[in-house]
Amino acid sequence: MPPPEPTASPAIEVYSLEDRRFPPPASFKADALVTGNELHEEAERDYQGFWARQAADLLTWRSEWHTICEWELPYAKWFVGGTLNAAENCLDRHLAEGRGDKIAFHWEGEPGDTRTITYAELHAEVCRFANVLKSLGVTKGDRVAIYLPMIPELPVAMLACARLGAPHSVVFGGFSSESLSDRINDADAKVLVTADGGWRRGTAVALKASADAALAATPGVEHVVVVRRTGEDVTMAEGRDQWYHDLMAEAPPDCPAEAMDAEDLLYLLYTSGTTAKPKGIMHTTGGYLTQVAFTHKFVFDLHAHTDVYWCAADIGWVTGHSYIVYGPLVNGATSVLYEGSPDHPGRDRWWDIVERYKVTILYTAPTAIRTFMKWGTAEPAAHDLSSLRVLGSVGEPINPEAWMWYREHIGGGQTPVVDTWWQTETGAIMISPLPGATTTKPGSATFPLPGITAEVVDETGRPVARGGGYLTLTQPWPSMLRGIYGDPQRYHDTYWSRFEGRYLAGDGARVDDEGYFWLLGRVDDVMNVSGHRVSTAEVESALVDHASVAESAVVGAKDDVTGQAIVAFVICKGDQEPTPELGQELRMHVGAKIGPTARPKTVIFTDDLPKTRSGKIMRRLLRDVAEGRDLGDTTTLADASVVEEIRRRAAEVPEED
Ligand code: WTA
Repeated sequence: MPPPEPTASPAIEVYSLEDRRFPPPASFKADALVTGNELHEEAERDYQGFWARQAADLLTWRSEWHTICEWELPYAKWFVGGTLNAAENCLDRHLAEGRGDKIAFHWEGEPGDTRTITYAELHAEVCRFANVLKSLGVTKGDRVAIYLPMIPELPVAMLACARLGAPHSVVFGGFSSESLSDRINDADAKVLVTADGGWRRGTAVALKASADAALAATPGVEHVVVVRRTGEDVTMAEGRDQWYHDLMAEAPPDCPAEAMDAEDLLYLLYTSGTTAKPKGIMHTTGGYLTQVAFTHKFVFDLHAHTDVYWCAADIGWVTGHSYIVYGPLVNGATSVLYEGSPDHPGRDRWWDIVERYKVTILYTAPTAIRTFMKWGTAEPAAHDLSSLRVLGSVGEPINPEAWMWYREHIGGGQTPVVDTWWQTETGAIMISPLPGATTTKPGSATFPLPGITAEVVDETGRPVARGGGYLTLTQPWPSMLRGIYGDPQRYHDTYWSRFEGRYLAGDGARVDDEGYFWLLGRVDDVMNVSGHRVSTAEVESALVDHASVAESAVVGAKDDVTGQAIVAFVICKGDQEPTPELGQELRMHVGAKIGPTARPKTVIFTDDLPKTRSGKIMRRLLRDVAEGRDLGDTTTLADASVVEEIRRRAAEVPEED
């Protein structure tokens, strides 16, 4: 694994020239929750005591814990002995405190249909659906798979699971049937909640058909609940499939919440690793909720009574789990939930939403910001965005120009921008400014949050006080993953074996002279496309699964819009002619097997791949080749010059690089 090369990467030259800085504006500070160093200082004195105070302040517990943290590397337990229920924390206690009429979600479908859902209404629907699940035989500890578009039934299904203590496994609606069946089988889920379809760019995207294909390979699923969203025709399997609305009509409205142990599994969420098999990341209840609630409140400076918060991610990713569902609901926030794409019916859809709902906090990804930059400033300028007061970014490194554009054209040149670094595995934000306290620099996630310790280390694991290296975490944190479902060895190998006593994030980072963290992207074989992690191995295995492909190597090449774009180098089987049609077919094949996000942007046919003597593909070299060329959105034919270039470069690289 090559170390990041701080001086060689052009991105870093930009960063090191970056001397713009933005202290929080006085007007923002006047009303901010945190304006100084007090939280950091408190946590430095006693980080466990700090988290215990947050757990007590932000959550309602059924019974108290006896030990804040038990740390037996690499396993942490937080708030040991304490019990609570996640759905009760998201719903019941707001009702008990007289906030039942407060709006939990302003939901907007892509076609323009809307639903306003109060906490009381959400509570009622969750209780009913929990009873539906119960009637289907779901009990505490059972896994439930959820494959839904961005409709209110998605958070309802998650919270109904949480109410019963049945861990959910949400599979992003854009994933293929094969990805769905793999995840259902790995988690051994007995119930699947899905929909007929969802709306995307004006088209009804069929979900049930895709679920049906998955269900052919998931013998463990006993029941399927189908939400009617698009009204398209679907096939309902007798005895297995039932309509959500039919079941809900019969379900009683009261459903007690189970008292769960702080360390009981709340959910599984699958994420890509360096092998083809996705990892089922395990998150538990007490620590997870504590850190998502804390970060959602303080990173976004949430004033729950007045803010209108919008996280524009999909709930199928961890960002949606933590910052659309659990964080905002625990904190009693009012959120926007939007189903569709940003360019339907026009490229100003988001700005129209911000204006109509008077959104005050917006949380999105650099890839979206870069897309808007490409579309120009006219669309945001045509709308009143003056309600916005905090802008967040997550999912990949944000380049300073995108950061500046976001602040300038969306934030009116005023609004603090919080670049938040974290991962599916960390569960919640780890490195980020506090908008009322931190002086930001465009492109830097600034500092670890209170209660979090991060260090950059060199190849040998020695801390690097200034400069680049591997990002590691040195102390357990409440929302850390508790393991990989069914695979403790992989948990150990992936995160804890490289540097003793340190969690390896897999990201490169640089610390500047003032101690600011600058994230540099993945150092392993995971690509980051539009903020979504895709493993090279997974795409390669989908490619070689095609009858015409002998071998393939996939890399993520820098891309102005999506951060990285997938470039596939493919060797055809002997009798197969490499043609542009085949290239298209391969792209579609990967899309069908894994999902559109994983579809290579470019397929390059070659008759050779550069390898080390031990047979490892030299990806770094392929990346250089891919990044050094102007690759279109198409197939590059068996281009002699590419092969030539690969050979020439390979010859320059010492063996075993
Ligand atoms: C990347 C998403 C730079 C990083 C929450 C990480 C970032 C991976 C940032 C996790 C950021 C996320 N700056 N890079 N602010 N946020 N990343 O699991 O490479 O989908 O390891 O979680 O995204 O992606 P995941």
